[in-house]
Amino acid sequence: MAEDLHIISGSKEEMYKALLPQVKALLHGETDLIANMANMAAALKEQFGWHWVGFYLVKEDELVLGPFQGPVACTRIKLGRGVCGRAWQKKGTLTVPDVEKFPGHIACSSLSKSEIVIPVFNNNNEVAAVLDVDSDQLNHFDAIDQKYLEEMVGLLKL
Ligand code: SME
Repeated sequence: MAEDLHIISGSKEEMYKALLPQVKALLHGETDLIANMANMAAALKEQFGWHWVGFYLVKEDELVLGPFQGPVACTRIKLGRGVCGRAWQKKGTLTVPDVEKFPGHIACSSLSKSEIVIPVFNNNNEVAAVLDVDSDQLNHFDAIDQKYLEEMVGLLKL
């Protein structure tokens, strides 16, 4: 396996299209979830340079911080709390163009301005983790991010 990512410039869609097969190759043959989440977060950070990107894993009644790239973050989030807890509760992706306008948003970093949270499902169709991406720009995430990030987390075997 080549460890170097091929980082491209181009449209957001072109970047996702170039990154997806590389992440697939990185994950190929590796069954450890934490290792795969760590490489996925690193690959996304390297290609897109977002402020924060990482996972929270469902553990009993909370989300607990998992592999991530970016500044230190809150470690535990209850069901229904913040953007992450709400995405877990509703079992669907949440895109927040302005975090200050999202009631209950958990500000781990004052630099975060917009956010997208994608649930990761296990074989029983339960949310087992979420992928959280934060940007230091307002209105950074859209349907293209949702489509490709949902496809990306679908590569994880839970
Ligand atoms: N902002 C998130 C908390 C996690 S951090 O941004 C890394 C939320 O409201 O759930």
